[in-house]
Amino acid sequence: MTDLRRGTLRSPEPPGRLSGPGPGERLDASVARWLNEEEKGASPPLTPTLSRREREKLAGAFPAIEVERLTKRFGDTVAVDGVSFSVRAGETYGLLGPNGAGKTTLIRLLTTLLPPTSGTARVRGHDLRREKHAVRSSIGTVSQAVTTDENLTARENLSVQGKMYGLAGRTLASRIERRLTDVGLWERRGQLAGSLSGGMRRRLEIARGVLHAPEVLFLDEPTTGLDPQSRRAIWDMFGELKASDPDLAIVLTTHAMDEADFLCDRVAIMDQGRILCEDSPEALKRGLDTGERVEIETDRAIEASDRASLQALGARSWRAIGPSRVGFQSRPGEGIGRQAAQLLEDRGHRILHLMIAPVTLEDVFFSYTGRALREA
Ligand SMILES: Nc1ncnc2c1ncn2[C@@H]1O[C@H](COP(=O)(O)OP(=O)(O)OP(=O)(O)O)[C@@H](O)[C@H]1O
Ligand SMILES: [Mg+2]
Repeated sequence: MTDLRRGTLRSPEPPGRLSGPGPGERLDASVARWLNEEEKGASPPLTPTLSRREREKLAGAFPAIEVERLTKRFGDTVAVDGVSFSVRAGETYGLLGPNGAGKTTLIRLLTTLLPPTSGTARVRGHDLRREKHAVRSSIGTVSQAVTTDENLTARENLSVQGKMYGLAGRTLASRIERRLTDVGLWERRGQLAGSLSGGMRRRLEIARGVLHAPEVLFLDEPTTGLDPQSRRAIWDMFGELKASDPDLAIVLTTHAMDEADFLCDRVAIMDQGRILCEDSPEALKRGLDTGERVEIETDRAIEASDRASLQALGARSWRAIGPSRVGFQSRPGEGIGRQAAQLLEDRGHRILHLMIAPVTLEDVFFSYTGRALREA
């Protein structure tokens, strides 16, 4: 977060990701000059009087996104409830949460499609309320709905979009080639969008979202409804996009924990409009005092007395998945999964299924809410 008054960066940024000043360091003269202008209420943030180098420095001095206590109410529903976070240039940030958590509403607020009820946010230093136009020109969005024109080819869809952003001629042609290549669709540039598979169509939507070289890309559930192979192709495509544009900040929503785990540098777990926790997927999982997840299914109902014995062994975060199937977490290296199966066998159960695996983000969600992500 940027403290405009003192001209210093307050919150620590991980090393090596930003080219701007480190935490607590003084900003250089060009940045301080702009900050002073900002204090006096001057717009637009990137003034033409700054040199290119100064502008680059300035861009590096800000998080790509800073959100402070953002709230959105719809009548009595608080869809987004005092949410704060920041995203660095080059970072992929995931909003992971169940249906109704407020993910889409948050994206709609940050892309200026909805006005907030209270709170503030800045995208690339531009205020969401006061500098809507500058925010819009620095972002790309890919909504969950399919919005490319089915009667135009892949290339024509991008061409229409580029022209809306003032691109033309060779610049437009080379941007289209680069982006269709990034998403693996260059060979299909002449194909009607309506005849592409679901996964290809989604990739086309993403190519369109980044055509005008935005600094921040918002994606709402980029892989929901796709088969595993198309999902994987989209995941791989993120790698290409990142390689081609290392400073691009990406904010994506998902309710798939494996997606958040694979794609995101940091994940915020959302529920009922709030961010419950936020960190890298690894750190979130390490933060649990358990390290293993166990699932056991037997040939008969697992009763309250069985549960009490298993909990006495060290089973935590107990989940009844079905009458004869349970899940729980345990500390790693203590062999509790195997001991639990043995204990149930000793009590007359026949084990049909036993799984012992490392914890996932699903377990992190469970530890904060007492509910499974899928059931939430
Ligand atoms: N335009 C609206 N009017 C009234 N309520 C709304 C509106 N948009 C969203 N909501 C409510 O806000 C809450 C959050 O909805 P949102 O669509 O942001 O959730 P989500 O996390 O994107 O869920 P999903 O995973 O199902 O897409 C829900 O209770 C929803 O009913
Ligand atoms: Mg949604």
